[in-house]
Amino acid sequence: LANILDSVSGPGPVFTGSPRNKLLLISFDGFRWDYDRDVSTPHLDKMAQDGVKAAYITPPFITITSPSHFTLLTGRHVENHGVIHNIWFNTTTQEKKQYYMAQFVDSYWDNGSLPIWITAQRQGLKTGSLHFPGTAATYQGETVAVRQVEPRFYDHSNETDWRLNIDKVIGGWFNQQDLDFVSLYFGEPDTVGHKYGPDSPERRDMVKQVDRTVGYIRDKIQEHGLTDQLNIIITTDHGMNSILQTGMSEKIILSNIPGFSFSDIKFQLLDYGPVGMLLPKEGKLEKVYQALKGGHPHLNVYKKEEMPARLHYSNHPRLLPLILFADPGYAISGSRQLQFNKGDHGFDNELMDMKAIFRAVGPFDMVSVYPLMCHLLGINPEVNDGDSSIIKHMLVSQEDTGGEHDAVLVTVIITTS
Ligand SMILES: *[C@@H]1O[C@H](CO)[C@@H](O)[C@H](O)[C@H]1NC(C)=O
Ligand SMILES: *[C@@H]1O[C@H](CO)[C@@H](O)[C@H](O)[C@H]1NC(C)=O
Ligand SMILES: *[C@@H]1O[C@H](CO)[C@@H](O)[C@H](O)[C@H]1NC(C)=O
Ligand SMILES: [Zn+2]
Repeated sequence: LANILDSVSGPGPVFTGSPRNKLLLISFDGFRWDYDRDVSTPHLDKMAQDGVKAAYITPPFITITSPSHFTLLTGRHVENHGVIHNIWFNTTTQEKKQYYMAQFVDSYWDNGSLPIWITAQRQGLKTGSLHFPGTAATYQGETVAVRQVEPRFYDHSNETDWRLNIDKVIGGWFNQQDLDFVSLYFGEPDTVGHKYGPDSPERRDMVKQVDRTVGYIRDKIQEHGLTDQLNIIITTDHGMNSILQTGMSEKIILSNIPGFSFSDIKFQLLDYGPVGMLLPKEGKLEKVYQALKGGHPHLNVYKKEEMPARLHYSNHPRLLPLILFADPGYAISGSRQLQFNKGDHGFDNELMDMKAIFRAVGPFDMVSVYPLMCHLLGINPEVNDGDSSIIKHMLVSQEDTGGEHDAVLVTVIITTS
């Protein structure tokens, strides 16, 4: 913890303390907590100076896009909100929908936890979302009022397009349409992290693009006179880990494990990074479990109900009876190598490489961003897994800072809890 606090800057003014200020939640997918260490990032540094930079934030398990973003929006652990994977699946029909098509399966997202947009709208606020995971779905009959879902085959790295989207959100949605809350998503530096690895020059270049974008966002906010009423949180869903370029014999390929056979499996979710799930056929659970357990030195195999409780990834009917996850550096394949990523995520959320960037306040778990956002928007939160007691330590009340009007900036204090 000493380490964490050493690298936390601030405190400085970040959040305006009065209720009903506006809030912009920004996610840059796969922005590992330490990506600003080997690249010059003047705009992110400026934001840390003006506010507070947490060393990192701990994402939920599994550390992938849809589950993690939905934790940001709901303050719930993955086993509680039910968006357990990027891939939607049906074990009866064997059907799978990949990340993009899964965005449109309402019943997948609307599983009892309301994202903050809906809660805020019900309490009279105006909300919007651009490209943020979960935007396309309908929740208890409602969608986020103002939204833009990306087209199916979208280039997530085009900086010109990023700027057009920012102009729309700041100039159009916040300024003209007077929205109170917007979530804004960018698909990088995740893609370059996968393709070239987290230590590559391509990743460093993309971090520069992200940094320019942060500068652009803050300039636009200034231009529209919103600086004193708009809070900004910049975060992400997970980090990135280098995949070891090992020989074939060292790779985790389930069909190579003695005693394991796909003929015992009714449904599988494999070839998707370091996490897999299996539904064995009737009466085969123990056999499959025994074969896989100890079957590879870097493969962790759990019966669903025996998953470590700290991962909060066991108590949901959508989770399959056997859950597999690999040690850092490894991916899990079914019967042959289909994965060629140099970087990946999905690993144990205790791994430092999975930790996420968080600019504004911290350090704490991602489940606690939700109660913080509700506080900043002045709305009552839904039931959640976050620690709201942290907030009152982080935000000094208006009187304490001697503010004379509604939009006074407050000091954010780092707590160690
Ligand atoms: C899976 O498909 C079966 C058969 O069509 C259907 O009865 C069931 O409701 C589906 N489950 C989900 C989660 O869509
Ligand atoms: C959540 O999904 C599970 C499995 O698909 C289903 O059994 C359960 O009824 C759903 N709960 C709610 C509140 O939608
Ligand atoms: C980037 O986006 C802009 C604006 O949408 C578009 O005009 C341009 O063609 C795109 N560039 C590339 C290389 O796709
Ligand atoms: Zn990714």
